Amino acid sequence: MHNKTSMTRRQALRLLGAAAAGLTLGGLPKWALGAPSSAASLPIPTLIDARDGEAVTLVLQKNRHRFGSGGAVPSSGISASYLGPVVRVRSGDTIPFRVENRLGEETTLHWHGLLIPSGVDGGPHNTIQPGAVWTPELKFNQPAATTWFHPHPHGNTARQVYGGLAGLMIVSDGGDRDRGLPMTYGVDDIPLVLQDKRFGRDGELVYEPTMMDLMHGFQGDTLLVNGAIEPVASVPAGFVRLRLLNAANARNFDLRFADERPFFVVAGDAGLLPEPVEVRTLVIAPAERYEVLVDFSDGRPVDFVTAPDTHHGDGPGMMMQMGRTGAPIDGIERFMRFRPDHALTATVTRLPRKLVKLPAPDIRSAVEWRTFVLNPMQGMNMAGMQAMTGAAGGAARDSGHDHAAAAQMMGINGRSFSMDRVDVTTKLGTSEIWEIVSTAMAHPFHMHGVSFRILSNNGKPPSAEQSGLKDVVLVSERAEVLVRFENLATPRMPFMYHCHILEHEDHGMMGQFAVV
Ligand code: C2O
Ligand code: CU
Ligand code: CU
Repeated sequence: MHNKTSMTRRQALRLLGAAAAGLTLGGLPKWALGAPSSAASLPIPTLIDARDGEAVTLVLQKNRHRFGSGGAVPSSGISASYLGPVVRVRSGDTIPFRVENRLGEETTLHWHGLLIPSGVDGGPHNTIQPGAVWTPELKFNQPAATTWFHPHPHGNTARQVYGGLAGLMIVSDGGDRDRGLPMTYGVDDIPLVLQDKRFGRDGELVYEPTMMDLMHGFQGDTLLVNGAIEPVASVPAGFVRLRLLNAANARNFDLRFADERPFFVVAGDAGLLPEPVEVRTLVIAPAERYEVLVDFSDGRPVDFVTAPDTHHGDGPGMMMQMGRTGAPIDGIERFMRFRPDHALTATVTRLPRKLVKLPAPDIRSAVEWRTFVLNPMQGMNMAGMQAMTGAAGGAARDSGHDHAAAAQMMGINGRSFSMDRVDVTTKLGTSEIWEIVSTAMAHPFHMHGVSFRILSNNGKPPSAEQSGLKDVVLVSERAEVLVRFENLATPRMPFMYHCHILEHEDHGMMGQFAVV
């Protein structure tokens, strides 16, 4: 049985929530109902400290994993039972990778956030056949950042990532000590891979998207941190750095601490911010990363929670979400708990002031302006709806061979993704302004092989925590970004741009660009 006590409590709350129908649960949020029942300690992924020139092996494999207090259930992992190791590299180094595919089906491994040429990017063109080994050599040359890696096979990314195939890569520049940032891995520099899942009766991972799930993205009712349900982390009673990755297929998390303490954003997707940015809540969209500093010097245990995802519009998505999760009225759900421990040495007790120099985006450098309209269900009709539903059922039965049939249902600028069509050709060494327009719901837009600066989002300048180097932007209406193209992508091996709601990506909300 999977995490029996916790599920029972969740079910009880669901019933209460339904009964209350508009009332609060006596003002008692879910996270206030006592300590996590499973109280597993936070799993810390194995750290691979990569050395210049020395090979790093990553094995994509099927496995079994214990998510909660129940038994082990089928999962996938990268050299692990679920998720992957944290690979730490130094900018300037060259690392040969050996990526082994032991999944029994075709895959790829994409380096999300690395500024590298398309030949080694791991997108849908860099396929690794079952049993094969892919050996890209990666030359790291970019600012310090928390990046990640995940499969990207054509039409089958959502299922493979959902099963557990994702890991973090830290690009360091050796400057954190001088900046005064916490840097002891697993102690005061902690990776947190955030996900939401659905579990079946026997505690097994469930991925059977309905047509509604494909339309809005597949969301779960159980939160995971590093593959664990409501774990507890012991931390030093000082400043701790959390490297946050939203590795959910579709859900935006609205992060905060239960006691509403402030915390400090020090980095966005692709690099450090000029100085820490104080926040009390932080929305993190699928594929986004943030590094934050949290002060635990008061010694008090505190829950790390999320508020509901309000970025799916107020249409059927919102209804679906409320109906399915049946969360308590305030909708707060707990990821995990932090427990300060005075036995652990707090090495950072002061908030750093200055982190990096970051010039304002130079919009005059742009040589081109392009517009991308993300169209969910483009060209939708009855036949299309049936094709999509059919594909969802078929995928559940035979791991995704019918996805091609459904791939026509979403698009960008009225066209669905095609492996054989290069949509945009840009010039190496130039910058462009890309305008992204969302219809019906918010989409997290991502580009391969580049980082960008957000110029505006919904007509406003970006918030301070979003104004650094980025590779994902959550677009609810219209955003403009300034992109610089510094890595080669031939028309035969183009880069991708796409919505990072993985169901949208797999069903055609993706395009290809060359950099020549
Ligand atoms: Cu996270 Cu196309 O990728
Ligand atoms: Cu990517
Ligand atoms: Cu989308």
